[in-house]
Amino acid sequence: MAISLTFLGHSAFLISDGKHTIAIDPFLTDNPVATMKSEDVTCQYIGITHGHFDHIGDSIELAKANDACIIATFEIASFMESQGVQKVEPANTGGRIQTDFGWVAFTQAFHSSSYAGLSAGGTEGVYMGMPNGLMINIDGTTIYHCGDTDVFGDMALLRDIYQPEIALVPIGGRFTMDPALAMRAVDLIKPKCAVPIHYNTWPPIEQDANDFAPNGVHTQRMKPGEVWDVDPALIA
Ligand code: NI
Ligand code: MN
Repeated sequence: MAISLTFLGHSAFLISDGKHTIAIDPFLTDNPVATMKSEDVTCQYIGITHGHFDHIGDSIELAKANDACIIATFEIASFMESQGVQKVEPANTGGRIQTDFGWVAFTQAFHSSSYAGLSAGGTEGVYMGMPNGLMINIDGTTIYHCGDTDVFGDMALLRDIYQPEIALVPIGGRFTMDPALAMRAVDLIKPKCAVPIHYNTWPPIEQDANDFAPNGVHTQRMKPGEVWDVDPALIA
C-alpha cells in the first residue's frame, strides 16, 4: 500500500497509509493559508514538533474530537493531559515510540519551544521542552519532518541512523532556514524526495519555493490542501 501526504499549509500534514492517519503540527484555525477546518480532520495520532502556537495549533480540539493520541515531548504531553487530552505518548530527543503504524523518533532541532497559553496573545510563555524533528516510519517508509530548525551538521548522522526517504524542510527564513540553507540541509539528509514547508504563511516568511531546488532530489512543492499520493518508485 502506498502512503499519502496531505499538506494543510505551514508545517501541517496528514500522513496516511490508508489505515492510519497521523496529523503533524495541525495548525488550522488561525492559519491564514489552511484550506481544511479542524472538524474535517480525522486522525488517530497527532505528532507535535514543538510548543509554538503555529505547531500546537488545533491539537487539543483534534485529539478530543478523534480520541487521538498525541505524540510529543514530555512537557507538551503533560500540558495536553492538563487540558483533558486522554491519550498521550510522551518522549524526548533521541527517543523512539513504537506505534501500530510503525514508529516515531524524536530528533534534535535548533530552535525554541514555548507556548503562550490558550488566550491568544498571551505573553506568559510556558516552557515546552526541547524542540524536535520527527522521524515518522509508516508502511516501511521514513519521513523526516524537520520541525523548525537551522541546518546542522548532525543531519548527516540522522541520515545514517534513520535513512529517511522523504524530508519535510522549512524554507521560510527568519525563524528557520531559508531556501539556500534548506538545500544545504537536504545535501546532508540525502532523502529521495523533499517538500518545502513553513513559508508563505505570513509576509515575514515569504519565499519563492522555486528557489528551493536541491540537487538530485525529487522536490514536491505542495499547495495547501494538496494531496500527494507518493509513487512507490520515487522512494524505492
Ligand atoms: Ni517555532
Ligand atoms: Mn514555526
